[in-house]
Formats: sequence, C-alpha cells, structure tokens
Amino acid sequence: MECVVSGIRPTGRLHLGNYFGALRNFLSMQEKHQCFFFIADYHSLTTHPTPVNLRENVKTVLAEYLACGLDPDKCTLYIQSDLPQTAELYLLLNMNAYVGELERATTFKDKVRQQPDNVNAGLLTYPVLMAADILIHRATKVPVGKDQEQHLEMTRTFGNRFNRLYKTNIFPEPVAFNFGNQLIKVPGLDGSGKMGKSEGEGNAIFLNDPASVIRKKVMRAVTDSGPTTPHSQKPAAIENLFSLLKLVSSDETYRFFDDQYNNCSIRYGDLKKQLVEDIVMFTSPISEKIKAVESDSELLARAIRTGKEKAHASANETMKETRKAIGFSI
Ligand code: ADP
Ligand code: TRP
Repeated sequence: MECVVSGIRPTGRLHLGNYFGALRNFLSMQEKHQCFFFIADYHSLTTHPTPVNLRENVKTVLAEYLACGLDPDKCTLYIQSDLPQTAELYLLLNMNAYVGELERATTFKDKVRQQPDNVNAGLLTYPVLMAADILIHRATKVPVGKDQEQHLEMTRTFGNRFNRLYKTNIFPEPVAFNFGNQLIKVPGLDGSGKMGKSEGEGNAIFLNDPASVIRKKVMRAVTDSGPTTPHSQKPAAIENLFSLLKLVSSDETYRFFDDQYNNCSIRYGDLKKQLVEDIVMFTSPISEKIKAVESDSELLARAIRTGKEKAHASANETMKETRKAIGFSI
C-alpha cells in the first residue's frame, strides 16, 4: 500500500473543476491507499498573514470535502496547524535548505512579482514547509497538478539531503502523482481556458450554487450561430459545452447532441437546458450535503479530532526517528 499525501489550500468554495480535476481522484485513492489529506492553513499565511475568519474558512473547506465523500474513517483528513510536528520538521529541514535554491523556485519568483511589499521568509521557504508536510508521513505519492512538480523535486532534494547528512534512510522519495491518463481539464463557461474561481464572474460553477445561479451561468455561456457543414470541427466555446456535458450527462445525451451537431440541426438553447438539468442533478445532492455538514458542528468537531489523532500518530513516529538521527533527545 502506498502512502499518499496532499494539501488543499483553503482558498474558496469548490467548483466542478476542483471536483473532477482533483477531488474525484482523492475519493478513489482513499479506497486503495493510506491517504493523508490536509487543509494547508499554515501555508495561507504566506500570502494572507492576518486572514479574516481563518477557522471558519477552514471549516467550510472541510465540510465541502466531507460532503463530497472524503471519509475520515478511510483517510486521514486533518488541518495542517493541528499538526505542529510539521513546523518542527520544517525548522529542521530549513537548516539544510539553501537560500540560493529557494530563490530559484518559479513560484517564489511569481510571488515576489505579485506581492512586492510582502516578500516574507515564509514565502521563500514555502517549498520547505511543503516538504515537511509530505516527509512527516513519509509519503511516496503526492497527487498534485503540474505547477507543483518543482516543489516535489525540492522535497526529494531535502529528504535525500537529510538522509545523507545524518546517515539514515528515514525519508523515501515521493513522486508527483498525476492520475495518469485521467488527467483532465474542466473548461470554464467564458468560452476559453479552464474553470477556476479567479477566472472571472460566471466562469465557474460551484458545488453549492443554487439551481437558479447554475441556470444563469450556463445560459450566458458563449455560443455561435451553429454549424453549417456536417461533421465540422467544434469551435472552442462549443467544445467546452460538450466537455461539460460529457462529465455530467449520460452517454446517450452526449451522443444525441453530438449527432445533432454533426447533422447541423443543433439548437444550443436545448443543449444548455439539458446541461443545466444534468449539472443540477449532479450538484444538488452534494449541495444539500454541504449545507447539512456545515451546520453540524458536532460532526465537524469529530472529524477534526479524528484527523488530528491519526495525523499525530503518524507524525510522532517520524519525528522520533528524525530527532534521534540528529542526536536530540526523544
Ligand atoms: P482554482 O484554479 O480555482 O484556484 P486551485 O488552484 O485551488 O483551483 O486547484 C485545486 C485543485 O483543483 C488542483 O489540484 C487543481 O489541479 C484542480 N483544478 C482546479 N481547476 C481545475 C480545472 N478547471 N480542471 C481540472 N482540475 C482543476
Ligand atoms: N502547494 C500546494 C498548492 O498550492 C498545496 C500544498 C501544501 C501541498 N502542502 C502540500 C500539496 C503537500 C501536496 C503536498 O496546491
């Protein structure tokens, strides 16, 4: 059984892109592997040092993941700041992380450009904290997007360096896990690019959007006047609608509209209506569940407690060996 770790930034509500791009894979992984999923609230301080309602945001994220089916009995779902052992490992790894290599990280360079007035040391050492998250459970697989590959490379560097310096083999080499050929990009509704919460109003469909909002967003999606030659290639905006249809509708429905497109009889209004119906069918049970979980403070408290306990057990084991390798008391 592989050990899997992944961090989720508490940046906002989940949308269909997050669900089909990431969460769906977490759900299948929790069935097969030992999984640690955590909400990266320490990391959020690198960009938002004094967050408003941090605990509330973290709880919202947790409620959404639970509502989607992450199961605290099958995986370890915890809050990063509930595991301060991570901060100790981060401190130890920092001693052997070189400023030069940290400055070369593309994510650091991006942040320097984005927030020139707050180039804090936490930003520079973001990859060390991420390495600590992963190494604390001695994970071998890390499901992340392409943008995190450099951080994974750095994690391997820090783990190997530690092993070499202290003549130990505590830390295995984690690899990025890109879900093989299941890697997908969920398109947004603005006719180009991907669905994302920062891509502009109306582009993303959130799991807790009410049906009326979903209808409005889909009906406003860009289309054209329709194909005039049979079997013509679909323009990007139309292809995007079909991609969404493929995710939420039945094969028959997809084929029905695809055939209509190919014989030039398609009416986009009908396609959109069907798409709204199928998205709502998909999201409404999740949305109901989110509401129920969000208001069930006992359930949330129990999930937080269970996650914390399981994460502590795993981290304490690693820290014992790590401290011993350096020569600290254990
Ligand atoms: P956002 O782009 O809305 O800010 P994040 O960057 O927080 O979302 O992404 C969280 C996870 O969801 C990542 O694993 C990312 O790869 C995945 N994800 C986000 N948007 C999409 C999308 N449109 N298609 C596929 N996966 C996505
Ligand atoms: N840096 C990751 C992101 O921006 C979040 C993250 C923090 C993470 N620690 C991690 C992901 C450990 C995987 C493993 O998406």
